[in-house]
Amino acid sequence: MAGYWSYLRLPVMASSSIAALASGLLYFKQNDLIYPRYLPAGSNTEEGVPLPTQFGISDYEDLRIATPDKETLGAFFIRAPNRGIASNVTILMFHGNAGNIGHRVPIAKYLGENLGCNCLMLEYRGYGASTGTPDEKGLMIDAQTGLDWIRTSKETKDNKIVVYGQSIGGAVAIQLVAKNQDAGDVIGLILENTFTSIRKMIPSAFPPAKYIAWLCHQYWPSEDILPQITKVPILFISGLKDEIVPPQHMKDLFAVCQAKRKIWRTIPNGSHNDTVAEQDYFKYIYDFMEDEVLGNQ
Ligand SMILES: *[C@@H]1O[C@H](CO)[C@@H](O)[C@H](O)[C@H]1NC(C)=O
Ligand SMILES: *[C@@H]1O[C@H](CO)[C@@H](O)[C@H](O)[C@H]1NC(C)=O
Ligand SMILES: *[C@@H]1O[C@H](CO)[C@@H](O)[C@H](O)[C@H]1NC(C)=O
Repeated sequence: MAGYWSYLRLPVMASSSIAALASGLLYFKQNDLIYPRYLPAGSNTEEGVPLPTQFGISDYEDLRIATPDKETLGAFFIRAPNRGIASNVTILMFHGNAGNIGHRVPIAKYLGENLGCNCLMLEYRGYGASTGTPDEKGLMIDAQTGLDWIRTSKETKDNKIVVYGQSIGGAVAIQLVAKNQDAGDVIGLILENTFTSIRKMIPSAFPPAKYIAWLCHQYWPSEDILPQITKVPILFISGLKDEIVPPQHMKDLFAVCQAKRKIWRTIPNGSHNDTVAEQDYFKYIYDFMEDEVLGNQ
């Protein structure tokens, strides 16, 4: 009988120590998993940030903005290149969890030309040319700092503001708009391929970790916060071929959304990264701005 016990004990101990190891990794490495600011290589360095000039934009400011907790954030303020339906609007842009603002300049360029708006591309702490280390609390300080920059800078203080978030940037945008909707200057929210919460992402994004999801210390509970937004129209753009955030997350967010005006758009061939490059993406934004955001001022 003793032999049986020793056989039984071995796998139990082995698997529990593997679980301990895996959960330790999840706990300590999750910042690198959730905020892979090193990808593509060099992205979290000043030299690794492509400049707007590389995309033919010359009328912009390469900013360093201080946060109240003494980090310094990189940012591009890209002036409207022409007049358009959204002249006097600044779009505050929050990107996905890899790369940096420089990689998304073509989006700002397209928004600017199409809508005639300014764009503030804000870099999260730990990313690009910004100082610090990313986490949920810090990114929300960064987001508020970016919004306050628009509200107080001479060139933009009379602008209306539209907040735009892709992927984890959508989670940032949701919390920011929920906190700031009463001031009346935030007039629109655009969400692309974002998730309901980090915890609900774990089964699809990190399958081995699905039994230890409770160890996750980054929450981004968008599905709990989004319903607080009632005063700002919201556009949902869902890439139906998203291989990273299951499209059901966007559907679930749309379902809980309590905004008086909410618009649902799908990009049938859109995967997580390239939804923005698919046909109709900017048309959906233009229509939303014209019909729901500016038409209702
Ligand atoms: C933008 O603001 C300027 C100056 O306040 C004003 O003259 C202009 O009509 C505004 N444009 C739009 C499209 O609201
Ligand atoms: C999606 O991709 C297919 C195959 O490449 C193409 O035939 C179709 O037109 C695309 N649909 C849209 C809406 O872009
Ligand atoms: C999406 O972007 C990530 C990060 O830049 C990259 O690692 C991945 O290969 C991209 N996926 C596709 C399908 O382009």
